[in-house]
Amino acid sequence: MLFVGIDLGTSAVKLLLMNEKGEIQKIANREYPLYFPRPGWSEQNPTDWYDKTIDGLKELLSECDKSRVAGISFGGQMHGLVVLDEKDEVIRPAILWNDGRTEKQVEYLNQQIGKDKISQYTANIAFAGFTAPKILWMREEEPEQFERIHKIMLPKDYLAYRLSGAFVTDVSDASGMLLMDVKNRCWSGEMLSLCGITEEQLPELHESYDVVGTLLPKVAEELGLSTDVKVIAGAGDNAAAAVGTGTVGKGACNISLGTSGTLFISNDMFGVDPNNALHSFAHADGHYHLMGCMLSAASCNKWWMDEILRDSDYAGVQKDIDKLGENHVYFLPYLMGERSPHNDPMARGAFVGMSMDTTRADMVQSIFEGVAFGLRDSLEVARELGIPLTTTRICGGGAKSPLWCKIIANILNLKVERIAVEEGPALGAAMLAAVGCGVFSSVEEAAQAIVQVVDVIEPEPELVEKYQDRYQTFRQLYPALKEIYRQI
Ligand code: XUL
Repeated sequence: MLFVGIDLGTSAVKLLLMNEKGEIQKIANREYPLYFPRPGWSEQNPTDWYDKTIDGLKELLSECDKSRVAGISFGGQMHGLVVLDEKDEVIRPAILWNDGRTEKQVEYLNQQIGKDKISQYTANIAFAGFTAPKILWMREEEPEQFERIHKIMLPKDYLAYRLSGAFVTDVSDASGMLLMDVKNRCWSGEMLSLCGITEEQLPELHESYDVVGTLLPKVAEELGLSTDVKVIAGAGDNAAAAVGTGTVGKGACNISLGTSGTLFISNDMFGVDPNNALHSFAHADGHYHLMGCMLSAASCNKWWMDEILRDSDYAGVQKDIDKLGENHVYFLPYLMGERSPHNDPMARGAFVGMSMDTTRADMVQSIFEGVAFGLRDSLEVARELGIPLTTTRICGGGAKSPLWCKIIANILNLKVERIAVEEGPALGAAMLAAVGCGVFSSVEEAAQAIVQVVDVIEPEPELVEKYQDRYQTFRQLYPALKEIYRQI
C-alpha cells in the first residue's frame, strides 16, 4: 500500500509518498504566492493551494503503481480563516496564522469578555493569528462578506473538501481556532455565539487519523486514482510534524524550525498553562499537547539572506561563524510581531549591539541565536510549569543547518535529535493516512515503527553557561523596546 502526506505550508505545499513500511518513495514541492497587502497582514488564495496540490500530486504519483495508493492525509498551516459562500466559492483570500490585523478583536476577547472566560471555554486565550478574532474582524470590517459565509474552514480542510467533498476538520487543527472546547474535543457553544456563527457553518470534528471520505470521481479521474482512495482528516502542521518526528505520548518534545518556530510538548493528559503563554491543544495521537509558537523563525534567515544579503549560498554564509556564545550582536526575531510568549502583533525585528568591528558572520549568528532565544522563552514557561525536558527532536527547513541545531542545543540546554526524514509534517500526514487505513493500530505504534533518529547534538556545558548570560540580556530587550514599537 502507498500513502500520500500533504503538508500545506506557508511558502509551499510539500507532498510525500510513503509505503506501508514507512519508506519514502518520492517527494514533490510546489510554491505559491504569499501576499502582505498591508503591514502586518498576511493572505493567500485557497485556490492556489488546491491547484498547486493537484499539480504536485501528478508529479508525486507519476512513476508509482497508482492502484497501490490507499490513503491521503494532510498537515496544514494552522489558524487560517477560509470562508466559502453558498456556492462553495471562496469569499475572500484566506487570512493566515501570521496575520496581525485583529489587535482590537483580541483585546475585546481577552479584556472585555476576559481571559478567564475565554480560557475556560477553550483552554486558550485570544492571539491575533487565531481564527475566532479573524471571524470577528470580518463581522466588523466586511459585514456584507460576513453575511455570505456558508462554510468556515482551516487551510488543509479546504483541500480535503475539494478532494473528497467532506466538510470536516480534525481536533488538533481546530484547537487553534479558539472555537473549540479543547478538553472535551467539541465546539464551544459560548465561543460560537460570541463570534456570531452557528455549528452548521463549521466543519464536523474528527480525530486526525479518522477516515472522513474517499476521492470525488472527478478528482480520482484527474489523478488516475481509484475512487476508493481514502481521505484521512490529518492535523495542524505542528501536530503532524510531531507525529513525523515521533513526538507522541507523554512528555516528548519537538522543535519545528519552519516559517514559524514552535516548541511542541506532547502529553497523555489534558493540561493548561495557568498564564496561557503556551497553547493547550489536542494532539493528533488522540491526546493533548502544549505549544509555544514564534511567528518568524527560519523565515528570519530567509529574509536576511534573500532580501538583505541577496545571497543564495546559505551554507557558505554560515562558514565564518566561529565564536559561539560570544556574540555582542542580538537580534529580536519579531518580523511579523510575536505570539509566544509576548502576544504582541506590534513587536518588530531589531538588531542591537553592533559596533565598527561587527561582521556579516556576527549578524547571521545573531539571527540564529535570536530565534533560539525566542524558543527558550517558551521552554522557560514549560520549565516553570514543572515539565522536565532534557531532549528534543527537531524538524523543518532550519534543521538542515547543523550550526543552528548546535546553537539551539546550547541555548536551550537540550539534547537535540535529528530525524532521518526532515519533512516532518508531510511524513506525519502520511503516517496518519497509514493509521487511518489500518496498517497501524495507533499513531504511537506508527511512530515506533517508522521514525528513526540519525544524529544527536549534545549541549556543551561551557557553551550552555555562556549562553545563559546572553539569554539574560536578550530577555531584557523586548520590554525595553515595547513602547518604541508602538511609536513606529
Ligand atoms: C502554530 C502556528 C504556525 C503555523 C505555521 O500555532 O501558527 O506554526 O501552523 O504553519
